Amino acid sequence: MKVLIATQKPFSAAAVKGIQEILVAAGHECVLLEKYAEQADLVAAVSDVEALIIRSDKVTAEVIAAAPKLRIVVRAGAGFDNVDLAAASARGIVVMNTPGQNSNAVAELAIAMMIYMCRTQFTPATGCEIQGKKLGIQAFGNVGRLVGAKAKALGMEICALDPFLTDAQIEAGGATPVHSVEELYSGADFVSIHIPALPATIKSINYELITRMPKGACLVNTARKEVVDEEGLERALTDRPDLKYVTDVAPDNYEALREKFGLRVFATPKKMGAQTAEANMNAGLAAARQIVDYFATGNTRFQVNK
Ligand code: 3PG
Repeated sequence: MKVLIATQKPFSAAAVKGIQEILVAAGHECVLLEKYAEQADLVAAVSDVEALIIRSDKVTAEVIAAAPKLRIVVRAGAGFDNVDLAAASARGIVVMNTPGQNSNAVAELAIAMMIYMCRTQFTPATGCEIQGKKLGIQAFGNVGRLVGAKAKALGMEICALDPFLTDAQIEAGGATPVHSVEELYSGADFVSIHIPALPATIKSINYELITRMPKGACLVNTARKEVVDEEGLERALTDRPDLKYVTDVAPDNYEALREKFGLRVFATPKKMGAQTAEANMNAGLAAARQIVDYFATGNTRFQVNK
């Protein structure tokens, strides 16, 4: 089968080599499209491929229509909001993610971001410490649990909200369960967001929630920009000069926020949560293995459009 690795933000060279080796050893052909400038480049590249490995690349209905042979798409990463699942399912195309493979990288970034904001973005101003502060984790999945464990080791108090887990499961992960977003935001000096972008979660973190946070609190977003209501965030930061926002996914109004609020806001120049050598290797190789396994045995364990 012909497998395309299409990554606007490429994997490390070592990860690409590893992916190619796995695919070629299993008798597949592997082609590469990196740093492409236009969505049209992706549309053109899929015309004769049976499988596709992507990162945050947008697999739209147009891409799927342009790929008549396509049978499987693997998103090397956790979030699959960049894939048109309905269009894929309508064609019987299997879509998978590689859950957990880049979680540690994202969790480390969330911790780094908290410290960066505590230390006023590494300027000489007097900062604060994270030890002894309360961290609220919104969604206690692969990333949330790792953030909790690392933060606990740094002396933070951890609580977590996850409607898909029991209290016992949250406690087993080392956090105190909370049962509503209102409770989570009201009681946390930091809230670390780990929810996916879904119709129900988009813009769900709004003015009302953000302004519940206690004095001096900081909101940490290594999830998706869409889950934060940008207008509400701007209003919250205006009305509450003590609040801070740090994000790995720059909001559309970032320039305006930065101008108005200076060191109280920070966004990475490019999404970098999963951009480590280890995460590239873990997620990339997992994607290649899942494709090999799917063609060899029909294994659909990580399918997200069942
Ligand atoms: C994910 O959903 O796994 C992360 O957002 C990583 O995205 P990336 O592969 O584009 O860095």
